Amino acid sequence: MRVLGIETSCDETAAAVVERGDDGRGRILSDVVHSQIAEHAPFGGVVPEIAARAHVDLLDGIVERAMREAGLGFSDLDAIAATAGPGLIGGVIVGLMTAKAIAAMHRLPLVAVNHLEGHALTPRLTDDAPFPYLLLLVSGGHTQFVAVEGLGRYRRLGTTIDDALGEAFDKTAKMLGLPYPGGPQVEKRAAAGDPARFDLPRPLMRRDSLDFSFSGLKTAVRLAAEAEQPLSEQTIADLCASFQAAVTDVVRFKAELALKRFKAETGVTAPLLVTAGGVAANKGIAAALAAAAGKLGGRVVVPPGRLCTDNGAMIAWAGAERLAAGCEDGMNAQARPRWPLDETAAPRLGSGQWGAKA
Ligand code: KG4
Ligand code: ZN
Repeated sequence: MRVLGIETSCDETAAAVVERGDDGRGRILSDVVHSQIAEHAPFGGVVPEIAARAHVDLLDGIVERAMREAGLGFSDLDAIAATAGPGLIGGVIVGLMTAKAIAAMHRLPLVAVNHLEGHALTPRLTDDAPFPYLLLLVSGGHTQFVAVEGLGRYRRLGTTIDDALGEAFDKTAKMLGLPYPGGPQVEKRAAAGDPARFDLPRPLMRRDSLDFSFSGLKTAVRLAAEAEQPLSEQTIADLCASFQAAVTDVVRFKAELALKRFKAETGVTAPLLVTAGGVAANKGIAAALAAAAGKLGGRVVVPPGRLCTDNGAMIAWAGAERLAAGCEDGMNAQARPRWPLDETAAPRLGSGQWGAKA
């Protein structure tokens, strides 16, 4: 089964072709990602309108390249999959409508994929991961623990009640005058800093919660930076190191708690902790996760970097898994700005503006 996957929910315009064998194993035939970082960098973050227009400009060419690199024509495909949410709605509409057009033109089934499901199923493509496993998704838009129990069976164990962790890295960088995206910058500066110089808060480090909160920490960084003006290079490094130490402590603590709960709830003795999202590239955080998994008798699976961040292969793969299970969507599939992976999980902060990230 061969599926073309299209991803346009944030600032990557991506398309890929993935093959799923009868044995359930996946193979990537092509994987084209265009990052729009340069377009958004002057604004210090992703500008939704710029992203949507860039997707319109780029997507045709990216799809063409993905098909060419796979060495296939549309008639060789079994389905078209596209991210239908959650994400920046302008971009999601561009990708989904393009997929619908290709599907209609070539009379192929359409699979409307939840972007988070794409991240959640990636370790099955890269590492043949068996269900169930625990997913920690840490990107610029999401921070959540999800128990992945089967295809379509996702239980959210905790999420952020305000900023995503990548967003906290980006905002910290911006406050310290470092360029976007901030995560890699903060990590680099932190290496030359003193993590003990600033005593920053470790929010929500309580035994009874798997939720995260980073906005208070961000404010603490801002106040500390304001008190140290003008910022020397050493102070910037120390603030980065102190920030990174704080979030690493939180992630280690929460990962242990989540693994304990996952073990108790599933009966699995050697749990698999899978990471996805750009923040998983942070070496300090990756080490903290490995330590947590080791302590609980489990292990960490980190898919290769380019499959941890947004890409078309994860969407194609989720589409292939769903198609193999007999699920496909009609031409009336809707683009959704919000689409929780676990539809039964209550929004942490209600709806409207306060529900977006939760
Ligand atoms: O998954 P991703 O590429 O895209 C989306 O969020 O959709 O994640 C990007 C986020 C950004 O916030 C970026 O600052 C963060 O991941 N990031 C990092 C590192 N590399 C990327 N954060 C901390 N340390 C890193 N090395
Ligand atoms: Zn993503």
